[in-house]
Amino acid sequence: MPKVILHVDGEKIEKEVKENANLVVLAGTKQFPKLKYGCGMGKCLKCVCEVLSGWEQLGPPNWKEEKMLGESVNERIRLTCQLTIKEDIEISQENILAKIKKEKNAVKLTK
Ligand code: FES
Repeated sequence: MPKVILHVDGEKIEKEVKENANLVVLAGTKQFPKLKYGCGMGKCLKCVCEVLSGWEQLGPPNWKEEKMLGESVNERIRLTCQLTIKEDIEISQENILAKIKKEKNAVKLTK
């Protein structure tokens, strides 16, 4: 079973999940505590994370991630609700939402 390490609010949470698990689905059923999320459908940005390790397993960002994350999107800045976990992964939600919003605002100001 893949091991997930989540850094959030100064805590480090480690948990094993079933292969092909979606962490937001697990959080919604209280099986993955502390994970920040909202809509679960790629529409709100609340689940954004930085993938610290294990990003190679995820494949490229999908169209929802590209739309919501704009110029911030890459293989390591992802929407957790759009990810399927196949292997060990380490993600962080420390300050990432504020950073993404700041970058999105900066892009708007320069256009
Ligand atoms: S939970 Fe809303 S975008 Fe992921």
